[in-house]
Amino acid sequence: MNQNSLILIKPDGLVKSLTGNILTRMSETKLEIVAAKIVRVSPELAKAHYQHLADKPFFDELITYLQGQLHDRRKVMAMVYWGEDAINKVRALAGATNPEEAEPTSIRGAYGRITSKGIYENVIHASSDAIEAEREIKLWFEPDEIILDAFPTKTETLNDVKKRVWAKA
Ligand code: TYD
Repeated sequence: MNQNSLILIKPDGLVKSLTGNILTRMSETKLEIVAAKIVRVSPELAKAHYQHLADKPFFDELITYLQGQLHDRRKVMAMVYWGEDAINKVRALAGATNPEEAEPTSIRGAYGRITSKGIYENVIHASSDAIEAEREIKLWFEPDEIILDAFPTKTETLNDVKKRVWAKA
């Protein structure tokens, strides 16, 4: 079955200049990139993304990590990969959550580490199942930022919406 999966290259992946390596590894899956952008992560977005971990002792540090405050690199690269069995394919390539337990050849096994505070800096995020993938993709992307119809949409006419546009040259 064709699926969509959200992939984030986290700030540690960007600081370590791993974007190229990760995209090359991801191409092994033969999945298609259908959306991509660089995002400056707000506290609200980070908290919403990791809402299922809100009661964990490491939650505050995790939110700081995703925002790039631990790496002085306040951005992540967000992508949607699409194709047959996308979620499991990407999870397998990403490896286990704990980088020390991840297969050494997986992305997290090869490039992740555990900080002295115990946070798993595991370089990428990959959606864990179809329900999470839909929730996460809708959180990180607008429908028009994805080149296929990932999920049903509706058209609304919005009045008085303030929006930044390019100033004339
Ligand atoms: P989780 O959603 O459980 O795993 P995954 O990213 O594999 O879907 O956890 C989210 C992130 O929280 C994880 O990528 C790294 C961090 N984390 C820790 O730092 N320590 C932990 O004990 C756990 C479970 C997660």
